[in-house]
Amino acid sequence: MKITGSGSALPAQRITNDMLGEFLDTSDQWITSHTGIKERRVIKNERLSDLASRACRLALEDAKVKAEDIDLVICSNVISDCVTPGLSCFIAGAIGYRGLCLDINGACTGFIQALDLAHSYFSAGKARRILVCAAEKPTHLADWTDRATCVLFGDGAGAVVLEKGRTEACPASVFGTEFNDEFLIMPSKRSTCPFTDDPYSEGFMYMNGQEVYRFAVNACVSDITAAAEKAGIALGDIDLFLLHQANSRIMTAARTRLKLPVEKFPENVSYLGNTSSACIPLLIDSLRRENKLFPGQTLALSAFGAGLTHGAMILKIE
Ligand code: UT7
Repeated sequence: MKITGSGSALPAQRITNDMLGEFLDTSDQWITSHTGIKERRVIKNERLSDLASRACRLALEDAKVKAEDIDLVICSNVISDCVTPGLSCFIAGAIGYRGLCLDINGACTGFIQALDLAHSYFSAGKARRILVCAAEKPTHLADWTDRATCVLFGDGAGAVVLEKGRTEACPASVFGTEFNDEFLIMPSKRSTCPFTDDPYSEGFMYMNGQEVYRFAVNACVSDITAAAEKAGIALGDIDLFLLHQANSRIMTAARTRLKLPVEKFPENVSYLGNTSSACIPLLIDSLRRENKLFPGQTLALSAFGAGLTHGAMILKIE
């Protein structure tokens, strides 16, 4: 599977830790030392569908292809401007695409799930070129009076154009789900139907930070190890590890357990916060634009999130 183009789009509004300290009992010192986050982008008046479409247009431009050259659009998204239509349909409308659109809600793992789905379409001979987007606005889900969650998140969209690659052995992927609706959950809108006794009440995102932290580090280490084994590659021979940018402490703990050097772990969490499934495509786009991704490199992608979903993929750049 080849990445032939990428694009990203971020909200214009930058929110620093000091700005959060103006209305929350928090500080730049606490947020930086516990998460590595210095600032994040938060949607003010943009629509997420516009950000997603902009990222996709840039990815198509970068790949030098048009919407009619695409056989499938997959969008990873937790919450968008509308419950329905799915965000992939808004992207289709904006770029002038009329084929199959699929939406995935795999929480922070969604982008890697979308890559895996794309790979299956290529393997089945059902597509030659696929546009994958991850667009997220987790700041919309957070309770902005809860200092333990709202400081973590940021909004953004990243997209890649994929083509079938030569190498059949890669990508190797592993996925898992350890169902849990207590540690990380966002209840949906309360029904007004008089015949329903909805078990989930309307509210904000709830997260048990320490449990999610433990799960995230374990999942990241075991998934990367298993995916590398499946791909038949030693961890030391992997060039870059693109991790879900939940926070820098999770990444440091995973990297330390894997005994790998910090230079192999590029990050964007310090200036974008946790952008859910958009973290990894945003990272891919910035690395491509800085000419840090090139043919011959092997990447390990790893993500984990609500569900609890998790997964990793070894991807060779062709
Ligand atoms: O995509 C996955 C998304 N989820 C995550 O990445 C979350 C993973 N979890 C974590 O990264 C960490 O658990 C957090 C960063 C969320 C919290 O760090 P922690 O070291 O686990 O803190 P804690 O929950 O044990 O809280 C320690 C103290 C508490 O105060 P008291 O009870 O000791 O007085 C919290 O109320 O830190 C307090 N605290 C804060 N203080 C200042 C929590 N959030 C803040 C804050 N500013 N923003």
